[in-house]
Amino acid sequence: MKTYVITGATSGIGNSLVREFSADSVVFAGYRNFEKREELQNVSKNVIPFFIDMTQSESITKAVEFITSKTDKVDTLINVAGCVVAGAVENIEIDSIRRQFEVNTFSHLQLTQGLFRCLEGGKIINISSMASYGIFPFVAPYCASKRALDILFSSLEIETGGKVKVVSIKPGVIATPLWEKSIKENAELLTENSDYEKEMKFLVGNAKNNGVNGLDVKKVVDLVVRVDGMKNPQSSYKVGNDAIGASIVSRLPQNVVNKLVSFGLKLRVK
Ligand SMILES: NC(=O)c1ccc[n+]([C@@H]2O[C@H](COP(=O)([O-])OP(=O)(O)OC[C@H]3O[C@@H](n4cnc5c(N)ncnc54)[C@H](OP(=O)(O)O)[C@@H]3O)[C@@H](O)[C@H]2O)c1
Repeated sequence: MKTYVITGATSGIGNSLVREFSADSVVFAGYRNFEKREELQNVSKNVIPFFIDMTQSESITKAVEFITSKTDKVDTLINVAGCVVAGAVENIEIDSIRRQFEVNTFSHLQLTQGLFRCLEGGKIINISSMASYGIFPFVAPYCASKRALDILFSSLEIETGGKVKVVSIKPGVIATPLWEKSIKENAELLTENSDYEKEMKFLVGNAKNNGVNGLDVKKVVDLVVRVDGMKNPQSSYKVGNDAIGASIVSRLPQNVVNKLVSFGLKLRVK
């Protein structure tokens, strides 16, 4: 039996991965909401739920202690937990940007550092995002957090001489609860940002649409399963045409990218 550690296990992509892998493997499944613990436990007897709040360093340390008290080998760590901090860079609170990096970047690195010895010879699969290509205005904290995640983990693989294979999965828009949550979590800035009223309305409409019309989670799950089974996976994979498009645009000179994105924004924000 293989052993997996998956954060963000209570919803969307992470929850689907738990259901997939726990059929024939042990899965340590991270939750922050105690109400969802039983739900996770009921998925399979192979699931071992563990508490982890990605904003609390102490909680991550305790999660590492819990996992390493039960196993000395993790075949694959899948870093999934994430949230979206949205708004205009001009007036978004710095603490909100800090929280974005805590949840999407620093927490994953801390958990990985804590489990590193158990991971030697195994894989780390990060659920990054097409946002890592950095071309989406008004979600810059999210884009920056995903880019930073990719950079830190690429270095980790290189510096440790490939003791652990790191793979970045970059989905485009996937229909999960993330989008509704992002509207709720950013409500104040999205609804009371008079300098950017039209843009914020566009953002909310777009998020609502994405939560319904995005790609099925299965696309990400199938790719993760495939990558997990490969001996020599690539370092980065995209999911969806939007992610492919973002990667192509991001390779253009920055001034061209800025002009294209500004033009696209003008067309879409009315
Ligand atoms: N959906 C997309 O279009 C899309 C596209 C590209 C990349 N991604 C990435 O995919 C990953 C999974 O997102 P998803 O779409 O599946 O969204 P989701 O359904 O909202 O799942 C996010 C998971 O992260 C957990 N989480 C959030 N903040 C946390 C915290 N402070 N401490 C512990 N756990 C926390 C959530 O817990 P709760 O259940 O308690 O909220 C949930 O289990 C994220 O990293 C996201 O950036 C998503």
